[in-house]
Amino acid sequence: NWSMDDFIDLQIQHIRETVGDKKVLLGLSGGVDSSVVGVLLHKAIGKQLTSIFVDHGLLRKNEADQVMDSLVGKFGLNIIKVDAQERFLSKLKGVTEPEKKRKIIGNEFIQVFNDEARKLDGIDFLAQGTLYTDVVESGTDTAQTIKSHHNVGGLPKDMKFKLIEPLNTLFKDEARAIGEKLGMPEQLVWRQPFPGPGLGIRVIGEVTPEKLRIVRDSDWVLRDEIAKSGLDRDIWQYFTVLPGFRSVGVMGDGRTYDYTIAIRAVNSVDGMTADFARIPWDVLQNVSTRIVNEVDGINRVVYDITSKPPATIEWE
Ligand code: XMP
Repeated sequence: NWSMDDFIDLQIQHIRETVGDKKVLLGLSGGVDSSVVGVLLHKAIGKQLTSIFVDHGLLRKNEADQVMDSLVGKFGLNIIKVDAQERFLSKLKGVTEPEKKRKIIGNEFIQVFNDEARKLDGIDFLAQGTLYTDVVESGTDTAQTIKSHHNVGGLPKDMKFKLIEPLNTLFKDEARAIGEKLGMPEQLVWRQPFPGPGLGIRVIGEVTPEKLRIVRDSDWVLRDEIAKSGLDRDIWQYFTVLPGFRSVGVMGDGRTYDYTIAIRAVNSVDGMTADFARIPWDVLQNVSTRIVNEVDGINRVVYDITSKPPATIEWE
């Protein structure tokens, strides 16, 4: 029966013994797991850690800045931030098929990371935010792959790193608890699940800068209203999706012909099954009004009331 403090002390000791005076590289995604690993490693080995944060341009509003402000500003990590929006967008141009989009984003992520990693000298170790559940899910080849997640793997083949995965015995809530113990800000630690391909799979079909803007801005409104209503810790995951069709509406004296935004909000334990969240009507009403008013190009908001199964949580 170990405590979180014991875990942290033991890991720090273990990391120091393993790493010695060598250097460690970490890939930051903006998510909880890799951020916790970053702070833990920094505590253990300080300047021997270098992190690479690939901003694929598919993150939520202000997300990249928040990660940088917190991890660099508050904790003093040495982070190389790569702004790779253009690279991802050009690779995604004309691509509409969900799994193809996922593979492109996953591969590009690895390539951008590797391009940066190659510029660094004398790195012996690669750290990853792998959780116990990632190990289990990726390890079972009997499990049917419904969507190709890419949390594990992607090690550069020509670069010979030894792996450090300090969280690989932990479940998600334990990783969060470690993050809290390490003094990480609440909005980073209690971040809802966010897929690796990010907003790229919440724009249905081809990803364009205009559609990314719509899904990013509407997602921000939804999160803001959920936070204001105090439901942010009660709903497991919530976001908006841009299906990409237009419908007729009326605004003032005029007819509009604009996009529809879908709200997806679910409760779940592990993402394997999920129930749509019963968000109060008045909260939904505020979200709807604000999205139509504040996000150009939207004249209709719908609420996804399917559970998983039969629907998946993400629409792609
Ligand atoms: P689905 O859509 O499969 O989602 O019901 C279950 C959970 O997994 C997340 N998700 C992903 N996470 N890479 C990830 O890292 C992915 O490609 C991916 N696709 C879905 C989803 O947000 C939900 O929490």
